[in-house]
Amino acid sequence: MEQRIRALRAQMEERLSRIDSRESLAAFWQEFLGKKGSVADLMKGLGTVAREDRPAMGKVINEFKVMAEQRYQECSERIGQLEMAARNRREEIDITLPAKKREMGTLHPITIVKNEMINVFLGMGFEVFEGPEIEDDEHNFTRLNVPKDHPARDMQDTFYVSEDILLRTHTSPGQIRVMDMEKPPIKVLVPGRVFRSDSDATHSPMFHQMEGLVVDKGITLCDLQGMLDKFVKQIFDADVRTRLRPSYFPFTEPSVEVDVSCFECGGKGCGLCKHTGWIEVLGGGIVHQNVLRNCGIDPEVYSGFAFGIGIERIAMLKYGINNIGLLTENDLRFLKQFKD
Ligand code: PHE
Repeated sequence: MEQRIRALRAQMEERLSRIDSRESLAAFWQEFLGKKGSVADLMKGLGTVAREDRPAMGKVINEFKVMAEQRYQECSERIGQLEMAARNRREEIDITLPAKKREMGTLHPITIVKNEMINVFLGMGFEVFEGPEIEDDEHNFTRLNVPKDHPARDMQDTFYVSEDILLRTHTSPGQIRVMDMEKPPIKVLVPGRVFRSDSDATHSPMFHQMEGLVVDKGITLCDLQGMLDKFVKQIFDADVRTRLRPSYFPFTEPSVEVDVSCFECGGKGCGLCKHTGWIEVLGGGIVHQNVLRNCGIDPEVYSGFAFGIGIERIAMLKYGINNIGLLTENDLRFLKQFKD
């Protein structure tokens, strides 16, 4: 038996020298210390040893076992260190490596134009107000002097949520909301999303408008034209001129359509202005007396002007975009062109 133990010791050293992983370490345990391992085997063999030799033999086997366990432990620590070193090597951060580049996003052209428009008007002392996109009939139509069954309701194809709740068809309900909250002098902008059941190359069921409202003593159409004149010069070109054409909106009287001289051809006539020399950019007018009255403002004392600008339209004209769909498709090849 002693001879066998000697042989096992030699075998153990040989095995130990080859352990290089958790797996081979586990195999070592199985071979020497496992249930069916050498130590267990030796213990079983103890039965065949002469009774008087058993205590001494048992001691030898036990020493062998303790040694195997010790060697196992040492080896396990060595493997642990190797693993840690390998992990450190793997996770080492090379600070000389160029950083992963995060591409900078760009503002959407609608946001760019919206901000630009707001900036122009902020310079004239306007404040910004935002109203809800889901409106009630009262604010979107009735108090804007468009009673139920009024033919003017057909001017805008409305998305109804229920009989009295709808997706606002314009930012004009913002006028009512502002006049309910504030007394003149009022000078506000109401930018926002609006919705109409309409879709082609220049119309989208969702689009953006910017409402403007000024109410004070002695406001006239000249104030409207003067302000818009300044606006288009800053947005398009310094020598762009404006022209007012009579129009109709139920909430303004008189109502006007505002054209700008074509900034592409300077008014001579080209494809952009459909050879008229003028491009229509917005609607507006003098706030209807009924609208002022509906908001508790005395039309004998105060007057105001209002206008509504389509932001998509301004962006399309400014950037030469020929299809409104491009503004919602989010094709990066398109959007990337608006890097400042
Ligand atoms: N709300 C009108 C539209 O959407 C535009 C407008 C606003 C006209 C304010 C006059 C005054 O067509």
